[in-house]
Amino acid sequence: MAGATITTRDDGPLLVEGEFRLLDAQGGEFVLDRKPIALCRCGASHNKPFCDGSHKRVDFRSRPRAESETRV
Ligand code: FES
Repeated sequence: MAGATITTRDDGPLLVEGEFRLLDAQGGEFVLDRKPIALCRCGASHNKPFCDGSHKRVDFRSRPRAESETRV
């Protein structure tokens, strides 16, 4: 399986592209009818783990930037 790319969207979700599986905490696999997908990063979605646009309603603000060193 090729890798996935996860991109932070300014003031919004995590965009997940490429080859991946999305599992719940018990190992169940979400059936994805489209890719890429957007995962909620703000906590306000009514359709978690997916983004439903609620980040705009709650005025979510986050614009992280990668640094040259690995961050965990
Ligand atoms: S990031 Fe979009 S609803 Fe949370």
